[in-house]
Amino acid sequence: MRRFLPITLAILLALLIVALPAGRWFLWRWELNPVLRGRQLAESYGCVSCHVPYRGVEIPNPGSRWGSVPRFQSGNFMMYGEARQDIEEFIRFGAPRAWLDDPAVVERLRNQSVRMPAFDDVLSDSEISDLVAYASAMEGVDLVGGDAVAAGRNLARQQGCLSCHGVEGSGGLPNPGSLGGFIPGFVGVNFADMVLDEAEFREWVFDGTSSRLAKNPVVRHFWQRQAMSMPSYRDTLDERQVAEIWNWIQALRQSTSDAG
Ligand code: HEC
Ligand code: HEC
Repeated sequence: MRRFLPITLAILLALLIVALPAGRWFLWRWELNPVLRGRQLAESYGCVSCHVPYRGVEIPNPGSRWGSVPRFQSGNFMMYGEARQDIEEFIRFGAPRAWLDDPAVVERLRNQSVRMPAFDDVLSDSEISDLVAYASAMEGVDLVGGDAVAAGRNLARQQGCLSCHGVEGSGGLPNPGSLGGFIPGFVGVNFADMVLDEAEFREWVFDGTSSRLAKNPVVRHFWQRQAMSMPSYRDTLDERQVAEIWNWIQALRQSTSDAG
């Protein structure tokens, strides 16, 4: 038996080495949603080079209608279109159909320095649909829940929740040393495990922790190692504001579960 011990140990070690990254990959998959997938695609297809420019400085675009390449989240989308459909047409054809049907606009596009590329032949329908979800979330177009939950969404933006938890709570931003290696969002399966009800949500926001999860030694282990922790907003937000953020998150979760 003893002869097999080193082999067994070697096999166990090999399994462990394979299992750790696989575990992370699994957790990451777990968090996926259209907006987060769209963000990852936008990074790999170079959309962010033009639309999320370094230090927010828009790329000059002489000859174009507004003189620069639009920066996502600048609040100026209405200068380019109105609805999700326009966003999809920008991604597929490089401009909305209405622009491409107008010879004067086609002439302008031909002469401007930077053109929005057409991705229709390059990307699959599901990739385009994820990119539309991401770009719409970034541009604030057709957002879930409308005015009824706008107060909660605005608070989450103003308080910086979304800088850590992702645009529209899509999650997946890096958090080295944490269990999954990323900050969970508000829409995925991780949220359902970490926040059972509104009372637990209030505890997270007011105290930056969960007394239920704190009892778990594995969770505590990662909490001690992770680079970022959830801040406490006890002195910043009141009960009503936290309830508003909760209502917005409920609307988000409802729509992502409807979407499958
Ligand atoms: C080479 C730079 C460049 C790249 C790369 C690029 N775009 Fe654009 N995009 C533009 C320009 C320029 C416009 C504005 C239209 C114009 O002036 O012709 C635009 C417009 C848009 C708009 C509508 C305007 C707005 O404010 O939202 C969306 C949405 C968009 N792009 C999404 C994407 C996505 C998604 C990708 C990646 C798949 C992408 N773009 C890649 C240059 C780029
Ligand atoms: C500095 C980054 C940061 C900011 C800002 C931040 N959080 Fe967090 N939040 C975290 C981290 C890190 C965790 C813990 C994740 C863990 O333990 O794995 C967390 C956990 C949570 C959780 C439970 C886990 C989950 O799935 O979301 C909720 C709910 C939450 N935060 C809500 C908020 C709200 C609401 C705000 C704004 C008022 C906010 N957070 C601001 C980093 C942040």
